Amino acid sequence: MQVPFFELNYGPEETAAVVAALESRWISMGPRCEEFERRFAAMHGAAHGVAVANCTAALHLALRIAGVGPGDEVIVPSLTFVATVSVVRMQGATPVFADITSLDDWTLSVADVERKITPRTRAVIPMHYGGFGADMPRLSALAAAHGLHLIEDACHAPLGTRDGRPLGTWGDFGCYSFYSNKNMATGEGGMMLTNHPELAARARRLRAHGMTATAIDRERGAEFYDVVDWGYNYRLDDIRAALGLAQLAKLEDDLAHRARLVARYRRNLEGHPGIHLPFRNYPGRASHYVFGVLTDHPDRRALREALKARGVATSMHYPPVHQFACYRDPAVSLPLTEEVGRRELSLPLFRAMTFEQVDHVCEQLCECLRRG
Ligand SMILES: Cc1ncc(COP(=O)(O)O)c(C=O)c1O
Repeated sequence: MQVPFFELNYGPEETAAVVAALESRWISMGPRCEEFERRFAAMHGAAHGVAVANCTAALHLALRIAGVGPGDEVIVPSLTFVATVSVVRMQGATPVFADITSLDDWTLSVADVERKITPRTRAVIPMHYGGFGADMPRLSALAAAHGLHLIEDACHAPLGTRDGRPLGTWGDFGCYSFYSNKNMATGEGGMMLTNHPELAARARRLRAHGMTATAIDRERGAEFYDVVDWGYNYRLDDIRAALGLAQLAKLEDDLAHRARLVARYRRNLEGHPGIHLPFRNYPGRASHYVFGVLTDHPDRRALREALKARGVATSMHYPPVHQFACYRDPAVSLPLTEEVGRRELSLPLFRAMTFEQVDHVCEQLCECLRRG
């Protein structure tokens, strides 16, 4: 049996949506982007959605709007995709790494964030690892007490909740990616959610060169535009928005199936020697972007090779950012992040995956661990 790590949840709906967008003859940002923003925001209980080119653009815009600049510090996780960190550098500010909470909770440690606050700190960017939300109630209180901006990297967490509230709606902005391996995929693509109308208006302007009217506004009758801010071209287009709408219609079903697969994984692997399963008592709904486990295998590369030879594709999330050449600093020590970075193994998880495939992955993993 072959088990890929991931497969797109695409069918005739996506093809039809793209063909309809092409036949409409409006392919850049237009009515489909607006509809995608409205529906994505409504499904998350957020007041505003701002569609952008990708999540890196979303995070960058959020920091720019927060006024983060040279001399400022932004507290970030290291157990994340590098974009959570590089956007801080894009603004000329300094990323300050905080550790994860524990081997059970791989999201930002509130205690370590608190320790790392200095007079220069301007913002914190929690990342909702694997679709499990960081401790937003405590991070929100901490940010409020110190006057910090809170920007959520919610790439893994569409439709996730924590303590009764949708992820992506706690901070200034929730930032999403629709890169092709995400729960919802448009190839490239991103979204910002916010409950603050003035932040949404600024994000809309900055994603389109700081212009007061875009092409679709002119098509609808706006005769003149001014440029009131220097901005970027971070627009999404209507072809990708069409894909986004088709994928959004499947998102509830996708999450529900992922939850069933994860329950099966947990049933099979719970208590197995040499395997540790995190996020046991998560207070909310997880989006289950990836299913990561810790193993005791001394050589993860060899373990992954052995699984590959048995038809099981795996991945790892993530090599810690503070260990990359660009960010390496001998003074930075994040013991829990480093341990997860060394031991974590991501197992296959996708909509078309069957329970038989889950069982096969678990059998092969346990067998490989037994052989050492
Ligand atoms: C946690 C995290 N942050 C940021 C990004 C960047 O998203 P994008 O590729 O849409 O720029 C990704 C995904 O690739 C991600 O997984």
